[in-house]
Amino acid sequence: MQMASRNTVILRLSRLGWLQEKIAETTGITRGRIAQIVNNTNFGEINNLLSQGRDMDYIARHYNMDLPLVWALRLEGKTDQEKFKELGWGLRTWDQWNFNQCDERFGDDWPGRIPAQLVGHTLFYFTKPGDLVLDLMAGGGVVSDVCLVFERKCLSFDLATRDKRPDILYHYWDPRNWKWPITKKPDLIFFDPPYFDKKAGDYSEKSISSLPREEYLKFFEEFFTLVKQHAKQTTRLAFINADWRDFQNKAAIDETPEASILADDYLNILSKTGWQRTHIIQVPLSSERFDAGIVSAMQKKRILGVTSRYLIIARKS
Ligand SMILES: C[S@@+](CC[C@H](N)C(=O)[O-])C[C@H]1O[C@@H](n2cnc3c(N)ncnc32)[C@H](O)[C@@H]1O
Repeated sequence: MQMASRNTVILRLSRLGWLQEKIAETTGITRGRIAQIVNNTNFGEINNLLSQGRDMDYIARHYNMDLPLVWALRLEGKTDQEKFKELGWGLRTWDQWNFNQCDERFGDDWPGRIPAQLVGHTLFYFTKPGDLVLDLMAGGGVVSDVCLVFERKCLSFDLATRDKRPDILYHYWDPRNWKWPITKKPDLIFFDPPYFDKKAGDYSEKSISSLPREEYLKFFEEFFTLVKQHAKQTTRLAFINADWRDFQNKAAIDETPEASILADDYLNILSKTGWQRTHIIQVPLSSERFDAGIVSAMQKKRILGVTSRYLIIARKS
């Protein structure tokens, strides 16, 4: 790793709330040197470069820095609303958030990636700057990237980790051996699990997407119980899911409802495990990704697909 890029990794981790000793352990650099880098690295030139007409991609390359960090530095100190404006995100004021596509600036391309705008809105309504956010199944890291820009602390976990994303720590939520990875209690917990076996082929064999239906549902029951033990009274859970219906190649009327996993099932598990649902926000998948051929075949066979997706916000009951 080159000098500048190593420094920017340190800056990212520090801004996300990592303790200096943990950064030292991860990067192999002494704590003293880390303190120097965090306190003395000067990126004041960003505004000059912008006023000279350089774009953000140029600046990222110039500093050998990732794009979300450049945005974080550029928008530092602004209010959440100002940040929405500068990012070009319309701020939704109702409980239906439609986004046609993911904002490519934040999060890596990842199976089941969620739009950065969805994360931004969740942070806007349910957290404040400086709050601690946990992302329990972080995938492409979009929550971490958006937290960086909105000046929230964020710790991310997944069983899929990679060198490029040192901010995502390895953690396997093992139903035979539950372990909670941190001691501090978070303000917001983001939880975007695989929707049953959708995309199972894209995730590791250890992913919960490989579990049979009953075990998958049991996982949630035990998981929500565990999460509750590590939440404060004021902690919000932001849980994303969608109805899972076996609709492929089947007329809607011929589906097998017993095989489905619906929003109701998750809501029942939440309430059974001591969570009170405070909001359901509709965050539909974009239907633009279906081409005319697919739509026409579905019409012929009376197939009713799923683009609904929900963001369920809950707190301890
Ligand atoms: C829907 S993806 C998350 C996508 C992410 N929000 C994004 O926008 O990129 C679900 C993630 O859950 C992880 N996962 C599934 N089962 C897991 C387990 N038992 N422990 C840890 N991670 C798990 C998968 O590796 C996958 O990255």
